[in-house]
Amino acid sequence: MARKATNKTLQRAKESKSDEFYTQYSDIERELKHYKDEFKDKVIFCNCDDPRISNFFNYFASNFKKLGLKKIITACYRKQKKDLFNTEEFESGFFYEYSGVKGEKIRPNLDDIIQFKGDGDFRSSESIQLLKQVDIVVTNPPFSLFREYVAQLVKYDNKFLIIGNINAITYKEIFKLINENKAWLGINLGRGISGFIVPENYELYGTETGIDNLGNRIVSPNNCLWLTNLDTSKRHEDITLTKIYYGNERDYPRYDNYDGINVNKTKDIPLDYSGVMGVPITFLHKFNPEQFEIIKFRKGDDEKDLSINGKCPYFRILIRNKRIQDNLEKNFILNFQKLVQIQEV
Ligand SMILES: C[S@@+](CC[C@H](N)C(=O)[O-])C[C@H]1O[C@@H](n2cnc3c(N)ncnc32)[C@H](O)[C@@H]1O
Repeated sequence: MARKATNKTLQRAKESKSDEFYTQYSDIERELKHYKDEFKDKVIFCNCDDPRISNFFNYFASNFKKLGLKKIITACYRKQKKDLFNTEEFESGFFYEYSGVKGEKIRPNLDDIIQFKGDGDFRSSESIQLLKQVDIVVTNPPFSLFREYVAQLVKYDNKFLIIGNINAITYKEIFKLINENKAWLGINLGRGISGFIVPENYELYGTETGIDNLGNRIVSPNNCLWLTNLDTSKRHEDITLTKIYYGNERDYPRYDNYDGINVNKTKDIPLDYSGVMGVPITFLHKFNPEQFEIIKFRKGDDEKDLSINGKCPYFRILIRNKRIQDNLEKNFILNFQKLVQIQEV
């Protein structure tokens, strides 16, 4: 019990540290180039962003015409530092609107911004008023509030493209959205997101840290993803399957507590198995809902973790190949029709 509490405290400390991870321009560019057509005539909202330092705002303002944007709104939380290297705080949160008009500053100063009455928390009524006016929310929100952040987007029926931790997939609420096809993974994940800019006071240690050529302190946690409900072409591409189940059954042990087989790597999903298969969560990065259906997450029929021979090191998503299922059904109908014809003759 005590150990659990310690883990939780550590987890919280880790989460609130990553609340101050700032996104690099190159990572934004690498992801957003896959959604270009989605932004045409749209109002974009970056609701955890100081327009003077946010690379999300920088990216959208710099590509305003190219993307055909209507407007960008950024809203900034009260506790936001003036810049990464300055500890001075403002009285309240603030927001800034940019519509690409001549004279508007891409990088605004204090005279151009509009102060909120409150702290500019994304959950505040002032920020929600803005949320209701926009088309797409794009940002890297505070990780420690990720569940609440996504729940709010769902509540207000927003389109979104946001950064989160890979673990977020395992949150009940987030997995539910993925399972219901209301959210899915974007293009880049893990090392596909090269790292975040961290404040001066963030201790740099380990191999995943460094300083870039602009002097920014960078941490590369290699455990983040993009979560979205904007369509991508990747979502409609089939995973190429090359492995065969029948004849290689020993490579695919069955679970003790679920009628299904275990598959250790997405690339090892057999092309000829029509039943339920447990695959690692990274499968979701390649998931095409026309090819596979998600059945369940992690638990067997007894609602305990999936196990094989009493051991349960498996954190799996249970899926089924829809194409085989469809073919089986088609063949069954064809055979049935043939049978009826023979009997009629
Ligand atoms: C992970 S950082 C990312 C900042 C920026 N979106 C980016 O990608 O560079 C999350 C930001 O959200 C701010 N923040 C923390 N709590 C917030 C809240 N309740 N409402 C709005 N913003 C918040 C943090 O101060 C931090 O600037």
